[in-house]
Amino acid sequence: MPSALLDALAAEAVGCTKCPLAHQGRTQVVFGVGNPDADLMFIGEAPGAEEDRQGMPFVGRSGQLLDRIMLEELGIDRQWCYIANCVKCRPPGNRDPLPLEIDTCRPYLDRQLELIAPKVIITLGRFAAQLVLATTDGVTRLRGRSHPFRGAVVVPTFHPAAVLRGGGEPMAQMRADFVRAKRELLAAGAEPWTSWAA
Ligand code: URA
Repeated sequence: MPSALLDALAAEAVGCTKCPLAHQGRTQVVFGVGNPDADLMFIGEAPGAEEDRQGMPFVGRSGQLLDRIMLEELGIDRQWCYIANCVKCRPPGNRDPLPLEIDTCRPYLDRQLELIAPKVIITLGRFAAQLVLATTDGVTRLRGRSHPFRGAVVVPTFHPAAVLRGGGEPMAQMRADFVRAKRELLAAGAEPWTSWAA
């Protein structure tokens, strides 16, 4: 049962001072939220201002879009999945995380993946896709395919912030990526999709 272990990891992370982001205006560590037994996990880049304030990932405008597409294409809300970021603290001014920050934070994400053991992972944006898949390919090239990953499947898609900026076409592509993820979840026998499909 991973829940207690995940709680212990979260407790360790909230006091983390292993990288400079701990001293660069972070209000709180944004560890992750959701179901510790989730079959579906979303991975974003790093917390923004609103996430830093509330201590939860994807609670600003990007998060509202994520919630909407999740409901419309997968028929679920946040309680069914797990949501986390590659980097758990807000980089000042929303700059890209630096290599030292990424490397220092990486063990938290790796351990979350181990404990939650999702069947399908949707990466949101270039940064998360490149980090998880260990590639330098851009998200436009990576999306539209399913990538085997440690016994699970990664379905890369755009970052919701990019979809908010980009309009109709990226929105349609993001929806298609979510439909792909649902197919992968069904193929993997994931709950609740299999019981709903029955
Ligand atoms: N963007 C991200 O990548 N993560 C968040 O939690 C919020 C915005």
